[in-house]
Amino acid sequence: MRGGISRGDEQIPAGVLPSRACSRITDCLAGDPKGFRVTTAASARRGPGTESPPEPELVRIRDVIYHAAGIFHPDNKLSLLQDRCGRRMKALRVATLREYSECLTGRANRQAELIALLNEITIGETSFFRNQPQLDALRRVVIPNIIQAKSHLPIRRLRIWSAGCSTGEEPYTLRMLLREEESGQLKNWCAEILATDINQRSLVHAQHGVYGTHSTRNLTPAYRSKYFHSQGDNLQVNAITRAHVTFSRLNLSDNSGMTFMKSMDVIFCCNVLIYFDLVSKRRVIQHFFNNLLPHGYLFLGHAESLYGVNDDFRLVHLPGATAYVKGERTFTGGKWQ
Ligand SMILES: C[S@@+](CC[C@H](N)C(=O)[O-])C[C@H]1O[C@@H](n2cnc3c(N)ncnc32)[C@H](O)[C@@H]1O
Repeated sequence: MRGGISRGDEQIPAGVLPSRACSRITDCLAGDPKGFRVTTAASARRGPGTESPPEPELVRIRDVIYHAAGIFHPDNKLSLLQDRCGRRMKALRVATLREYSECLTGRANRQAELIALLNEITIGETSFFRNQPQLDALRRVVIPNIIQAKSHLPIRRLRIWSAGCSTGEEPYTLRMLLREEESGQLKNWCAEILATDINQRSLVHAQHGVYGTHSTRNLTPAYRSKYFHSQGDNLQVNAITRAHVTFSRLNLSDNSGMTFMKSMDVIFCCNVLIYFDLVSKRRVIQHFFNNLLPHGYLFLGHAESLYGVNDDFRLVHLPGATAYVKGERTFTGGKWQ
């Protein structure tokens, strides 16, 4: 294997960490790397706009990331990867990509360095109530269907997984929505939300729960006052919003970690798999298939689809949104068949 590494499952230790493991750390943002550029012999030779083969060390680092996390940087994104490596090189006081690549593959702390690099390269763009039609469909169609499918069970429990939750806006949105249903269709139900991401810094941010105007732009005044309190110019989620939301670190390419995420009623994996190649996507989707209960629903991002990725899931059209369910199903004799 190139780069001398094994698969991501073995590389990244214990994909699932104990929840709230780092909720007290408040300063989660890295220093501004502006102005710092990785200088290598090849990049120094290259003039602006000159096409040249990708630098071998950068390709090696790309392979390390791909095998560890399923994230693939095509050639036209390698300059972005180089910039992100530059941030780590600056932090480590390492001068060349070759030395940095050795930090990722050869040294004793390579796993820690890989986690640090993944913190830099993952893109966490998100916001509260990012996809309102999807949320409406969840509330009006999906939850009633799940309640019906589980009506014969003695325990009334709903499990929703936000896979690739970034800084927490998506799972907290789901929590607010479920909370609104607690005196209605979810009365006497226990609804829990598991929120996972590979980016440790994003998870620290999520647990701190403080958000600025960009993230909170879609919040109505009623939601602001009911589910947040002010913290200077920002809003912080309150105790009601935090309740029943558990954050954990999980790499979607970690096969052993993924097998722990069993018995889900709904999985949200929005705007995550766009960074994966087909092989990695297929592997993750197969885990989702295994982890969903028979009546379960999988939601992807607005522009994402499983076309050409997976044939086991079936696309369903909900009012204003689409989702995936497990094959042909009928509700017969009080059960989904
Ligand atoms: C664009 S954000 C999406 C956030 C949210 N789901 C939404 O739609 O608003 C993508 C997230 O996927 C996470 N991610 C990327 N690769 C991952 C992997 N291999 N395992 C887990 N999370 C990953 C990133 O860290 C990032 O937080």
